[in-house]
Formats: sequence, structure tokens, C-alpha cells
Amino acid sequence: MLRARIAATGSYVPERVLTNFDLEKMVDTTDEWIRERTGIRERRIAAEKEAASDLAYEAAKAAFKKTDIKPKDIELIIVATVTGDMPFPATACHLQQKLGLKKAAAFDINAACSGFLYGLSIANGFIKSGTYKRILLIGSELLSRITDWEDRSTCVLFGDGAGAAILEATNEDRGIISTHLRSDGSMWELLHMPGGGSRNPASKDTVKKKMHCIKMKGNETFKIAVRTLEGLVRETLAENKLKISQLSMLIPHQANLRIIQATAERLDMPIEKVMVNIDKYGNTSAASIPIALDEAVRQGRVRDGDYVLLEAFGGGLTWASVLIKW
Ligand code: COA
Repeated sequence: MLRARIAATGSYVPERVLTNFDLEKMVDTTDEWIRERTGIRERRIAAEKEAASDLAYEAAKAAFKKTDIKPKDIELIIVATVTGDMPFPATACHLQQKLGLKKAAAFDINAACSGFLYGLSIANGFIKSGTYKRILLIGSELLSRITDWEDRSTCVLFGDGAGAAILEATNEDRGIISTHLRSDGSMWELLHMPGGGSRNPASKDTVKKKMHCIKMKGNETFKIAVRTLEGLVRETLAENKLKISQLSMLIPHQANLRIIQATAERLDMPIEKVMVNIDKYGNTSAASIPIALDEAVRQGRVRDGDYVLLEAFGGGLTWASVLIKW
């Protein structure tokens, strides 16, 4: 049976570190509040000249270093982002130019924090159908560019970064086992950026009203996230006739340490088997899972034959899980 497997991962975060102590000087907050309520200690902020395709390019280069697959072998580039270089063309096209590729197809997807998992599902479909053999998938975000730096309830949460996965077709008994995508558009207002689209095109007024910044009802989103993620993981495992104890690793989207801990507790998943790096990067939306996955691989925490479950929840609302046999 034809499957898609992740042949290599890579990630990149910008050099500049913004600590909670730095934020104390910008808004009415404390390091203690941020650590206790979110688990975040610091986050990375992109340099002025960097955009999503630049971060994506660095993550892609890191991934290509770990495999024999060359950029020219890639037939499709998918970038998951809500902070692309420009509204159009796709950031995937900018990345394609940087990689010097002429033949590959390229497009972006917008599923907010679930974007990388939506991307894995799309890539899996193309590979299983025999359409493409090698796909480059990236989650790249510069949330610092759409953050209201005067709003303490959101500005402490987000960061910038990118993570990459190179997928290839295999006939081996490994790779993506199942993908599960869900959304509920009736709750879009919980997490969104109102300005800059066709509803509220950019104007002096939209800028004045900070409509080009993230708006989030954090507390409501938090409660729905925990409930939803528990159900999603149980559903994914039940469909594959697997028990929690058979999972070697859970790699969740890094939105809030308390969401990660609460989900793990409800599932009886030992926290040692859960990948956590939110302390270093904050919430990097579509980039958080591929960055965490790349770190888990580099730390030797993901080994051949392991069952690894990725799960995410975010704006849309969207949520998703992907089960992989590594
Ligand atoms: N520093 C200090 N106090 C802060 C603060 C900050 N940075 N941000 C908010 N507060 C205050 C609030 O003003 C509020 O004060 P009040 O009780 O006097 O009104 C109090 O802390 C509690 O606020 P609340 O929003 O209820 O806190 P919370 O425990 O829900 O934590 C989040 C806030 C944003 C950290 C949390 O809700 C969260 O992570 N939400 C979900 C994020 C998510 O999953 N997103 C989807 C994926 S991207």
C-alpha cells in the first residue's frame, strides 16, 4: 500500500529573543503571570527584513540537509501560514523562487494553528493517489507582525518561526496512518484578524482601529480547546484500534502549557511522552508542530516504528490530528 512518510524535518527560529521581562517593560504584565498562565518564558521575533518565505527557506534548507532528496525532486510545495509575505501570490511561490524550482506546483493553506496538519493531510492525499511522490510542507509564521503590542491579553502569547517536513511516497509499513480534519466556522469570532481582507479592506480607519491585529477571546477558546482535543485524540486512536499506552509521543500545537497539560491529564498520557517547547517559542501557530516535531526528532525522542500523534486546535475554528508510524 502506498503511504506518505516524513523523510526529513527541519526548523528555523529568528535570532532575536523577547523575554517575559522585556514584555514587563511594554505592557502591564509580569514574568510570573505569563509563566503560570501560559508556560511561556520567551519567544522569537523576526528581523525587520525577514518575511514568512525567508523563515520557510531556512527551515527547508535544514530539512534538505538531513535527506538525499534534493530541492529539484520536489513536485509540490505547500506553505501553511496566516502571515504570508503578501496577500498574494502565495508564500509557497516566494519559497519556490528561493529554492530555484521551476516545475513544482505551489500553494498556501490557511487553517491557522491547525495549518500544518491540514497540510499533512493534503500532502498525504496527493501521495496516496499517486499524483506526487515528493512534497515539501512548511508551517511558517510571523505572528509578531499581526500582534497588538499594547494588548497584554494577546501580545505575551505569540512568536515567530518555521518548521519543514519533506514527504515521500513509500511502500513500507510506515508513514502517515490516518488524518482527521475538523472545523466549526460558527465560532470564527473567537480568534481572528478582521482587517485587510475583502470584508474590511486596509484603510486609515482599519489601521486606527487595530483591525490588522489578532483578536482573541482567550478564555472561551481555552475551554473549547481542551474539550475538543481530548475528544479528537480518543477518536483518532479508536479509529485505528490503538490505546493511549501504545503512543510513543504526543506532539501538540503549542498554544498554552495548561491546555497541553489538561489534555494529557484527561487522556492519562504521561507528560514525559508529550512534546513541550512553548517555554522557548510561545505560540507560533502553523509553525509550532513542525518545530516541535523537528526538535523531538533531533533529541532522539522519535524512533523508527514509534506511533506518534500530532494534534492542533486554532482559528476557524479548526482542529486536526495526524497519526504517524515513524
Ligand atoms: N498579564 C497580567 N494579567 C493578564 C494578562 C497578562 N499578560 N492577560 C490577561 N490578564 C488578566 C486579565 O485581564 C484578567 O484580569 P481580570 O480578572 O481582572 O479581568 C485575568 O488576567 C484573567 O484573564 P483570562 O483571559 O480569564 O485568563 P486565562 O486564564 O484564560 O488566560 C490566556 C489567558 C490567553 C493565556 C488563555 O485563555 C489562553 O491561552 N487561551 C487559549 C489560547 C488558545 O488556545 N488559542 C487557540 C490556539 S491558537
